[in-house]
Amino acid sequence: MRIVDYGQVAACLTFAVFISASAPAQNSVVGKYNGPGGCASSSCHGSIQPKNITRVAQNEYSIWAGQDKHARAYQVLSNDVSIRIGRILKLQSPPSQNQKCLACHALSVAPEMRAQSFDISDGVSCEHCHGPAAGWLGAHTVKEWETRTADQKAQLGMRDLRDLAVRSHTCLHCHVGTEEQSVDHEMIAAGHPDLTFELNLFSAVMPRHWKDSDDTPWFGTKEWAVGQGMQLRDSLQRLARRARSSTWPEYAELDCFACHHSLTAAKDSWRQEVGYAGRSPGVPAWNSARFVVFRYAAAETNAATAGKLESEMATLSGLMGQLNGDREQIAASADRAAELTHSLAGSLNNRSYDQAFTLQVMRKIAGDSRAISQQGQRAAGQAAMSLDSLFGVYQQHAKNLDAAEMKAAIGGLFQQLDDPSAYNAPRFAAQMQKVSELLSAEKGSR
Ligand code: HEC
Ligand code: HEC
Ligand code: HEC
Ligand code: HEC
Repeated sequence: MRIVDYGQVAACLTFAVFISASAPAQNSVVGKYNGPGGCASSSCHGSIQPKNITRVAQNEYSIWAGQDKHARAYQVLSNDVSIRIGRILKLQSPPSQNQKCLACHALSVAPEMRAQSFDISDGVSCEHCHGPAAGWLGAHTVKEWETRTADQKAQLGMRDLRDLAVRSHTCLHCHVGTEEQSVDHEMIAAGHPDLTFELNLFSAVMPRHWKDSDDTPWFGTKEWAVGQGMQLRDSLQRLARRARSSTWPEYAELDCFACHHSLTAAKDSWRQEVGYAGRSPGVPAWNSARFVVFRYAAAETNAATAGKLESEMATLSGLMGQLNGDREQIAASADRAAELTHSLAGSLNNRSYDQAFTLQVMRKIAGDSRAISQQGQRAAGQAAMSLDSLFGVYQQHAKNLDAAEMKAAIGGLFQQLDDPSAYNAPRFAAQMQKVSELLSAEKGSR
């Protein structure tokens, strides 16, 4: 393993020591947040060009500050949309000072957790994901650091983001929400975007300021699979929480476009044509987007547990498809499904990945075009993002497929999602059928 070159980090180290020296009593404490300034020097993580002195490219700060929306997450709270959200929700203080918004848009930690260099306007910064740096800032620049275990690093406050379960759960704190911070239909109706996620794609869009390890073959497939499992688990826990809360029913748990689609003449309605399986006509369905693709990764990994999850999800979906479903039963079913999903996500985090798995899962998803498309626009969106991510991984490793044709076919899926209120399931399914045909022509089947 190539470790840090001492000469190169000397300046960086001096800088780190300088920061701690500037407020010794505060900064030496594990658990305090310094803010990104401490990472910004060009000899630390603020290089403009990637360096190849160590395993770390040292341009992470520049990527974050220049390209990553997280760096501007706090500024967003002062734009017109946010001001209007605040007005509609009758917030007592402006969004940029309100915990309801700061919880996800800034590092809104208690005053005693803030070091002197901390500045709330830095938005979603390094320590939000990597953990409070005061306990490891100095230590992580010296040679011995790489010999420490993830547990030892965690004791100093650094989060083990190389573990994909930890990584996705970190993102989902804000991209699905927790008990303390959430985006509900009230906020969406006031103007907040709906929260959707797919770890592999969102990491690429961020964009990544890291290189994932080369020693895990088909790492991208793993990232997708574990990310799917964690987002299903976390969203089931959210559903259970909400069903037990005072604000139930929560429309954001349902298929948005069951309510928000445009009406057509009866003869043109694909919804009437398809019918309302498992619920009374006109009752909005549960949003099962986070299950429709995950189920295939699960089935490939542990058929018995995946089978139990299938039947629990059928129960949950039935309960959610009643106009006045029993809240306690909904919450209990969501809890059981979350448990099963947790176990499956663990298996997915421990198994190995290869070409056959990647191709098989892509084929299963694309082959399920009818059922997935009928689950609504958000489910179709998960299928499109997943096929896009998995094909990206596939292409890196195996170049048999006609990339241009596949990219065009997957691009066609996204086009079908552009105008959500006009989403048309049969048209989406037909496009997915094209992807399916291209995949079945691929060699390497099993
Ligand atoms: C649970 C976490 C969470 C909370 C709480 C939250 N947000 Fe957000 N917000 C997000 C995420 C995640 C996104 C990005 C969504 C995406 O694009 O997928 C976002 C996006 C936005 C955007 C769109 C930004 C853009 O670049 O267009 C605005 C505006 C916004 N939030 C304002 C607010 C306001 C105002 C509040 C408080 C009333 C708030 N947010 C509370 C997580 C949150
Ligand atoms: C939204 C979450 C997030 C933010 C914000 C973030 N990172 Fe990261 N960072 C990650 C993830 C995920 C990884 C990949 C896992 C890993 O390598 O530890 C990573 C990897 C890294 C790595 C490579 C670590 C290694 O051992 O390969 C460095 C260095 C790094 N980040 C520095 C920074 C700095 C500096 C900032 C702030 C300027 C920052 N990160 C902000 C999520 C984030
Ligand atoms: C502390 C909360 C928080 C965490 C943790 C977090 N995000 Fe975000 N994320 C946000 C907010 C808030 C926004 C909206 C920022 C904006 O639009 O200015 C956002 C925006 C994004 C966007 C841009 C979306 C768009 O529509 O352009 C991507 C991509 C993204 N996040 C990926 C990730 C990934 C991947 C992780 C985990 C490695 C992660 N985020 C962790 C809060 C968070
Ligand atoms: C059970 C029906 C129902 C479901 C499901 C539902 N909504 Fe709504 N939504 C409404 C109603 C009713 C309003 C208020 C409309 C009005 O007063 O004009 C509304 C308002 C809105 C608005 C603001 C009005 C506008 O036209 O801009 C947005 C945006 C919105 N919803 C998005 C969503 C999203 C995204 C989802 C899924 C996460 C969702 N809704 C799920 C019924 C629903």
